[in-house]
Amino acid sequence: MLFKTTINGEKVEISEELLKKYDRAGPRYTSYPTAPIWTSDFGPKDFANALTPATIASADRRQRTNALSLYFHIPFCSKRCLFCGCSTIETSRDDIGTRYIKALAEEIRLVTAHLGAKRKVSQLHYGGGTPTFLSCTQLETLWESITARFAFTDDAEIGIEIDPRVTTSEQLKLLCNLGFNRISMGVQDFSEPVQNAIGRVEPFEHVQKAVKNARSCGFKSVNIDLIYGLPYQTKESFKAAIDKIIELSPDRIACFNFAYLPKMLPHQRKLPSEKLPSGNEKFGIFCRTIEQLCGAGYDFIGMDHFAKSDDELSAAARNGTLWRNFQGYTTKAGTDLIGFGLTSISDYAGSYAQNEKRLINYYRAIEAQKLATIKGWKLTEDDLAVRKIIRDLFCNAHADITNIPTPAEGWSASGGNHRTIELEQDGLIQINDNIIHITPLGRLFIRNIAMAFDKYLNTAENKFSRTI
Ligand SMILES: C[S@@+](CC[C@H](N)C(=O)[O-])C[C@H]1O[C@@H](n2cnc3c(N)ncnc32)[C@H](O)[C@@H]1O
Ligand code: SF4
Repeated sequence: MLFKTTINGEKVEISEELLKKYDRAGPRYTSYPTAPIWTSDFGPKDFANALTPATIASADRRQRTNALSLYFHIPFCSKRCLFCGCSTIETSRDDIGTRYIKALAEEIRLVTAHLGAKRKVSQLHYGGGTPTFLSCTQLETLWESITARFAFTDDAEIGIEIDPRVTTSEQLKLLCNLGFNRISMGVQDFSEPVQNAIGRVEPFEHVQKAVKNARSCGFKSVNIDLIYGLPYQTKESFKAAIDKIIELSPDRIACFNFAYLPKMLPHQRKLPSEKLPSGNEKFGIFCRTIEQLCGAGYDFIGMDHFAKSDDELSAAARNGTLWRNFQGYTTKAGTDLIGFGLTSISDYAGSYAQNEKRLINYYRAIEAQKLATIKGWKLTEDDLAVRKIIRDLFCNAHADITNIPTPAEGWSASGGNHRTIELEQDGLIQINDNIIHITPLGRLFIRNIAMAFDKYLNTAENKFSRTI
């Protein structure tokens, strides 16, 4: 069997043999090293050291005065969708948000005490869970806690993930008035059998109304999240869903490969596994989606994003300034990221730090006036070099490997190793003068290409979803 698609105007053919060869478990590389490698040896004190200006080497100090990215994790959902891989707590208690935002305010105070002067923020994102689980009053109170300690740049991107099923017009209006200018809506699919199987039923008209509402409130950019690889999906059913998405005309679309991890996520065991599309069908769905969206004026960005050709994200992809963080692709390159709330991750001054994963432990740490870091990683020089290569591959489809760490297993003086030689033979990359270029075919295998540079891979391979 031969799969065909057209990526940003270039025709690509993929053999079934190639697909089989590269369909394996692998990271999505929102970080390098990946989270399963981080250790509990890195705790609150290490994160505090990373945050404190006096401990930062002078060469690095200039960057630390740059604007920040902030992430706030709101982990609550009134009902858990059966496919969900996010860090969520299913609850119907409205008052749970009140204690949570109080803890967030305290965490902001603790973190900013280490940062020193009131720092500027060029990017802020509320993710979840479902941030609009919070009431209007709670959203306002949280915003006051943030703006008391941080100042925003004039062009700051201020975004929120919402579930259109539970978000009211009042919340949208309020968010816009507070300064939120980007909104991302979870949709996943419009097909009824799929929606029933994943425990998330929502008619097209409802999403249409939410998009219209968001635009009339003044949100500058609307993103829609989709997932391919869900039970009952077929090429035809997903094509119909994409037609409806095109009708809604969002500025950006994230089309995620379904991460099916029933061993780690017990609620996913309730999905009808026998109705999951086969590997071939799933890949066919994605090929068709790329063709359909590129044909409708969207650019295929990175691994799983699409943006209208005149969107800033497309422009950044064209001029090589695209960036990627835990929240996805962005135009704000090089910013340090601080995560607040349960399970949230910071990427600051060459260290990763992740917060507590159990709510009670998070509250205990914050109420004891301690940072809630549970694990992390201080990147070595080698880690930093490989992270840059992987980030460049995911964002720009090329990377300079002159600074590949030595001695790395199997690397030859000419800048290749047995893994990259194979990738080149399979037509996924080309290497010229130590620059790796991902071919149009390779765009469908970026995770596999990045894996060739990951020296920790064997330690954590069973924790990841399938790459295809
Ligand atoms: C926090 S949710 C979005 C906001 C809101 N909770 C909602 O569902 O509408 C983030 C997105 O992650 C994606 N997602 C969740 N679980 C996933 C999984 N197992 N595999 C791939 N994508 C997933 C979905 O597209 C979802 O919209
Ligand atoms: S997909 Fe969104 S609404 Fe559904 S459980 Fe996950 S975070 Fe909650």
